[in-house]
Amino acid sequence: MKVLVTGGAGFLGAWVIDRFQKSGAEVRVLDMKDDRTVARKIMGTEAEDLDWRVADIRDGDAVKAAAEGCDSIAHLAALLTPDCAANPVLGAQVLLIGTLNVFQAAKAHGMKSVAYASSGAVFGGDDGVHPYPVTHYAAFKLACEGAARAYWQEAGIASVGFRPAVIYGPFRETGMTAGPSLACRAAASGDSYHLGYSGAADMIFVDDVAAAFHAAATHSFEGAHALNLKGEVADVADIAAAINALAPATTVTWKGDPIPMHPELADSPLETLLGALPRTSLRDGLAKTIEYYRQHSG
Ligand SMILES: NC(=O)c1ccc[n+]([C@@H]2O[C@H](COP(=O)([O-])OP(=O)(O)OC[C@H]3O[C@@H](n4cnc5c(N)ncnc54)[C@H](O)[C@@H]3O)[C@@H](O)[C@H]2O)c1
Repeated sequence: MKVLVTGGAGFLGAWVIDRFQKSGAEVRVLDMKDDRTVARKIMGTEAEDLDWRVADIRDGDAVKAAAEGCDSIAHLAALLTPDCAANPVLGAQVLLIGTLNVFQAAKAHGMKSVAYASSGAVFGGDDGVHPYPVTHYAAFKLACEGAARAYWQEAGIASVGFRPAVIYGPFRETGMTAGPSLACRAAASGDSYHLGYSGAADMIFVDDVAAAFHAAATHSFEGAHALNLKGEVADVADIAAAINALAPATTVTWKGDPIPMHPELADSPLETLLGALPRTSLRDGLAKTIEYYRQHSG
């Protein structure tokens, strides 16, 4: 099996690549930059041998060329919430046009399915059941889910869009909710950290998300699904307390507005579609993150 991973230079991308490589699948990466920093930290020198295409997801011909010879696509390339807020037109081009380009490439190469990163941000603050985006980023993600349904109706391409809320873990260092991972990085060096937001959110460990992408590529399914991907709901105060307990030399504090996303994501038929998936507890995920940073500092 050969999988095209878009956004492979990013945080989640590196973990998804690692999951596929460890399972024996062949991986091709598409990203606008050839930056293997995170992949190298996770996979070591194997990162140098990756089949890596530097291309812009907005360029349909380039995406189609990169997908040639692949059996499926794990589509992660995106701009995150702050960048979409700063430049909504660019955000729409990267998220929405980029996702259309991915499905067009899947169609051109006769692929049966695509897995893509949607987001728990599609829910506003009211509940985790009815999508009601309140950021440009979330609005584009929800639009991608509609486009995926159209590709199932019109071209028979099955898809699963995963909706994690806050993904945390080693090397999550950008985006509005990078704080818990950065706090773990600080804790690994004995430094203190101030988290810039407050309130509760669903926190999912990065390798659990990578496992879901792997399951989507290795299971056969029909339809266009948008599935909540749940970890563990935690208040920022609980996260700070957990990190302080794991690394007593560290003090994690917090202050700021709550993130604009309901913390309780509704249950989804994820495991009915894709089989059993790992679910790392928050404490274990934070401990693994601190340990990774201890081993990979510098
Ligand atoms: N991090 C989270 O908490 C979170 C939560 C929910 C959903 N997601 C989604 O998961 C996916 C991965 O997120 P991440 O945290 O790894 O983000 P990231 O910013 O670390 O990675 C995104 C990658 O996309 C690439 N990219 C951006 N614009 C591109 C373009 N025009 N062409 C090609 N590549 C481009 C970047 O170079 C980067 O390597 C995204 O789709 C994101 O929306 C993330």
